[in-house]
Amino acid sequence: MAWGGIRLRGLRLVIWYDVLALAHGESSHPGTRGPGDGVGLTLGAVTSTLTARPSAVDIEAAFVRLRGVVTETPLRRSVRLSEATGAQVWVKREDLQPVRSYKLRGAYNVIAQLPDAARERGVVCASAGNHAQGFAYACARLGYEGRVYVPRTTPRQKRERILALGEGHVQIIVGGDTYDDAAASSVEDAERTGATPVPAFNHPDTIAGQGTLAVEIVDQLGHAPDVLVLPVGGGGMLAGCATWLRSRHPGVRLVGAEPAGAASMAAALTAGEPLDLDDIETFVDGAAVRRVGELTFEIARDSGVELVAVDEGRICTEILDLYQVDGVIAEPAGALSSAALLDKVSVTPGQEVVVVLSGGNNDVSRYAEIVERSLVNLGRKHYFLVNFPQEPGALRRFVDEVLGPDDDIALFEYVKRSNRETGPALVGIELGRKEDLEGLLLRMDESNMVVERIPADSPFYRFLV
Ligand SMILES: Cc1ncc(COP(=O)(O)O)c(C=O)c1O
Repeated sequence: MAWGGIRLRGLRLVIWYDVLALAHGESSHPGTRGPGDGVGLTLGAVTSTLTARPSAVDIEAAFVRLRGVVTETPLRRSVRLSEATGAQVWVKREDLQPVRSYKLRGAYNVIAQLPDAARERGVVCASAGNHAQGFAYACARLGYEGRVYVPRTTPRQKRERILALGEGHVQIIVGGDTYDDAAASSVEDAERTGATPVPAFNHPDTIAGQGTLAVEIVDQLGHAPDVLVLPVGGGGMLAGCATWLRSRHPGVRLVGAEPAGAASMAAALTAGEPLDLDDIETFVDGAAVRRVGELTFEIARDSGVELVAVDEGRICTEILDLYQVDGVIAEPAGALSSAALLDKVSVTPGQEVVVVLSGGNNDVSRYAEIVERSLVNLGRKHYFLVNFPQEPGALRRFVDEVLGPDDDIALFEYVKRSNRETGPALVGIELGRKEDLEGLLLRMDESNMVVERIPADSPFYRFLV
């Protein structure tokens, strides 16, 4: 084994020649990796030992392996985010991958390293979204037959994308009503058929593939950023980037952003082990994970990463700003990092900050809900139960005396009942500015109508928003 190197723009990566050979699939001994890399991972085994952590060298080898397969996505300076924070903010545009998310990196890195014996029995995964698309693309590129287990709820458009990217190599099987059912079906398939499972995050090769993002960012920037903010679901990207940066650029501040309704990595770090969250909010579908992986958890725990939780409504506001100001389509998980930067991460003016925009698979039918949640987040949309006196002119009085000049009725549900003195109406009001709320509440108090505000933590409110 000998030292070798590759030079990429300003960055010189020194790696073992053997690792380079492995990266290109030229290894004649797929059963082992070099002893110098401290991995001890048996590639010959169809299922690798999940306790084996990938090393920085594995990630560099993956970086070489993925060249020409993944797109080197642009790293663009964001005027909007730079002005808002005073820092130099760069956005890593993984929405511009052929599968519109970074997930291709990990899926390809797993399948490309399987031994020949695995080819006959094929590969299998469970996913409703981005991982399945990366898996399908990798199957087509590498000539593997794959099966994707999806929950019944997976929209037809997503199934069609998976099939199109698989170019005839991938079959979709409905594996139950929920993602958990689909995951169980895929495990059962792998046990029955001997197909190799391709995990979405909790696998050393998946993690190494996702970690290539950090290598690419440093290469494009010409040096390491001061701060890297990235999204966290199961923790694959976080674990991969942390592994490489802690080894090669330990000074980088690494911030993982989780959706507030599914902060499973923070929960695991508090508990000292991964645990199932009872109730998760699935809105940020890519990153809403009930339980993080054992391996991703251990790496996050030992890497000194910061975690922040971002409110789903704040993410919606960021999706709309990305769309309307920057002309970028981001899915909720894709907008997580920049939303976190604006909301939860304090940076010093002049610092260089990179945020990962991890995916752009946003279904157009979701925008109505995104606008609604964003208005609530901005404090501009509120719901009330107004007990109207059942007499002519009551609604006109409400409009004239209670509503302010910039307040708009966005929802009004009322059923007249003939034998009562009052009748409740459900009223949604959109304010011109969030500061107008105080005046509105005051005028409601002064009116002769009984008005009840629906609090944001009420189950009824969740039904509305
Ligand atoms: C667009 C997007 N961002 C972020 C994530 C979270 O990634 P990880 O599971 O590697 O933490 C996912 C996971 O599917 C995703 O699809």
